[in-house]
Amino acid sequence: MNQPLVLDARNITKIYGKKRQEKFTALKNINLQIAQGESVAIIGKSGSGKSTLMHTLALLDKPTKGELYLNGDKIGKLNSRRLNKTRNRELGFVFQQFFMNANDTVLNNVMLPLRIAGTSIWKRKKLTMEALRAVDLQEKAKNKANDLSGGQKQRLCIARALVNNPSIIFADEPTGNLDSQTGAMIEKILFDLNKEKGITLIVVTHDEDIAKKCKRQISLKDGEIISDTKKEVKLKVGQDGKGRVELKTSPAGKRSKK
Ligand SMILES: Nc1ncnc2c1ncn2[C@@H]1O[C@H](COP(=O)(O)OP(=O)(O)OP(=O)(O)O)[C@@H](O)[C@H]1O
Ligand SMILES: [Mg+2]
Repeated sequence: MNQPLVLDARNITKIYGKKRQEKFTALKNINLQIAQGESVAIIGKSGSGKSTLMHTLALLDKPTKGELYLNGDKIGKLNSRRLNKTRNRELGFVFQQFFMNANDTVLNNVMLPLRIAGTSIWKRKKLTMEALRAVDLQEKAKNKANDLSGGQKQRLCIARALVNNPSIIFADEPTGNLDSQTGAMIEKILFDLNKEKGITLIVVTHDEDIAKKCKRQISLKDGEIISDTKKEVKLKVGQDGKGRVELKTSPAGKRSKK
């Protein structure tokens, strides 16, 4: 069965800069639909617009033109309070640099999205410990975030990204600052979340291995999508004249919102 769309980007254009001589078009008329449970790699050369696309899809940056729908809701219509709430509830982020409150404890870092969401205290603690267990960091709950190793810091970030049971996890070069063995562990955690919990995974990466592990690869060049493996499959099936297209996205587990 086809999964519902989590993201639907229509004619997204992003222009940086205000004055005419400073203007730069980083995304050109992007059309992109992502279904629940997919694993998608966004690839392309440095400067091709990968992070800009990810930030736009992740509601961290507004497109200059075009429309974006998240789980069927039109994002452009939301005021900034609703936007922050939606981002906090529906999306998780993992970046190359480990963003966290370095001087706070592991527990408080992971709990933050739940505090923002106004989750009750006992539930906060329970969900936070569950998320820490999922990345095998439960024993470090009381440690200062800054005292963790690189791989542990990234696991903290993943725990924080998943604590709210998001629809989508966005990862921008999640293994970029890690040695290959630690990177492989982080990779496995992300793909397991995708397979077992049905969380949609969108990864920006230069790493071919990670890109190959995703069911779908989208390639950007100069702010445009130059290839999308899902569309290519569609095209082939269409050419066979076999009628309806039923694309296999990664198997989505049952998700239920808390
Ligand atoms: N805030 C900004 N103001 C002006 N130009 C920007 C801004 N952010 C990005 N750009 C430009 O937009 C283009 C796309 O940048 P982006 O960061 O999306 O590339 P990328 O594909 O993620 O590259 P990398 O692989 O190096 O991270 C680049 O030419 C960049 O210089
Ligand atoms: Mg980038």
